[in-house]
Amino acid sequence: MTDKPEKPNEEINYSDGKSTLAYDITKLRNEAHGHRSIPDTKFNVREHFGLDVDWDVPGFSYEQSNIPDIDETYQFDKETTLAILAGFAHNRRVMVQGYHGTGKSTHIEQVAARLNWPCVRINLDSHISRLDLLGKDMITLKEGKQVTEYKEGILPWALQNPVAIVFDEYDAGRPDVMFVIQRVLEAEGRLTLLDQNTVIRPHPAFRLFATANTIGLGDMTGMYHGAQQINQAQMDRWNIVATLNYLPHEDEKAIMLAKYPDMDNGEGKDKVDAMIRMADMTRKGFIAGDLSTLMSPRTVLSWIENDHIFRDTEQAFKYSFFNKCDEAEKDIIQEYYQRCFGVDI
Ligand SMILES: Nc1ncnc2c1ncn2[C@@H]1O[C@H](COP(=O)(O)OP(=O)(O)OP(=O)(O)O)[C@@H](O)[C@H]1O
Ligand SMILES: [Mg+2]
Repeated sequence: MTDKPEKPNEEINYSDGKSTLAYDITKLRNEAHGHRSIPDTKFNVREHFGLDVDWDVPGFSYEQSNIPDIDETYQFDKETTLAILAGFAHNRRVMVQGYHGTGKSTHIEQVAARLNWPCVRINLDSHISRLDLLGKDMITLKEGKQVTEYKEGILPWALQNPVAIVFDEYDAGRPDVMFVIQRVLEAEGRLTLLDQNTVIRPHPAFRLFATANTIGLGDMTGMYHGAQQINQAQMDRWNIVATLNYLPHEDEKAIMLAKYPDMDNGEGKDKVDAMIRMADMTRKGFIAGDLSTLMSPRTVLSWIENDHIFRDTEQAFKYSFFNKCDEAEKDIIQEYYQRCFGVDI
């Protein structure tokens, strides 16, 4: 912990108007006053996650701020969930890697939700700077006078609290930002704020996760524009890397039917079946190099959602996927559609 006095009621002032952090640090810090320190209960994995393992993982017995909402219909993937649970239970640094829309970010969030563990997601897009993470001096108005004040960044705040930070799009982060994160990747990783003369020791219940589309080797396919190579020394500090790519057909179907129970009948199931088959064809087509876009589980979900709105499966398909595709590839997609649904679009 630092020796700096707490200033819970200071006002946040992004006076440079450029801050890209989606979170209001002061608000987070004020809310964090409700955080007690260490996990005080255990959750049985079989009971709370529906997985066939005899593990009890630590968590909190009470509600706190910044706990994600529980999605009751969430279907936990065993390999991914166990990796994330190990991260929470044993203070491991866990990265989840995989294609887009496969459930990486929500898996971490949903685990945190069930453990009552506060969890904050930060999108490491190319606008997040080192100062956003660490904090910076800012000019604020106090009693009518301009004063320069240090504003704590999200990383020092999170480090001192029982909070799981999820760095989303980890492979899109800027190099200067990545080196800041590298310092706290080790379990005992202390953070030195040079300009503040403080050393921050991580809270025992601080956790760090990341999600990425590539495994830090850059992007060969061109699918993940903006993905950077990750320094190998940095990659080495992630204790667990789990891969979450597309799930087996039946598992994906179970996710869709759990989210849309009104389709859990003969006709609905056939339709979801055909939709996932369609998505699968685009994934195979993509791997074979025939297509440059593919349908993720997120696309299938929004197709079902649009189908509920427009009551027209074909039109919903156009809105959710077809209109995003390259003109030159539409013939192939039409052919897939014909094979799955027996109609031409
Ligand atoms: N196992 C699952 N059970 C229920 N819903 C799921 C599951 N996996 C994914 N989803 C749903 O799919 C959508 C996409 O998930 P999510 O945003 O976690 O993907 P992602 O892998 O982080 O994608 P990206 O790489 O684009 O960030 C969400 O709406 C989520 O609720
Ligand atoms: Mg994500």
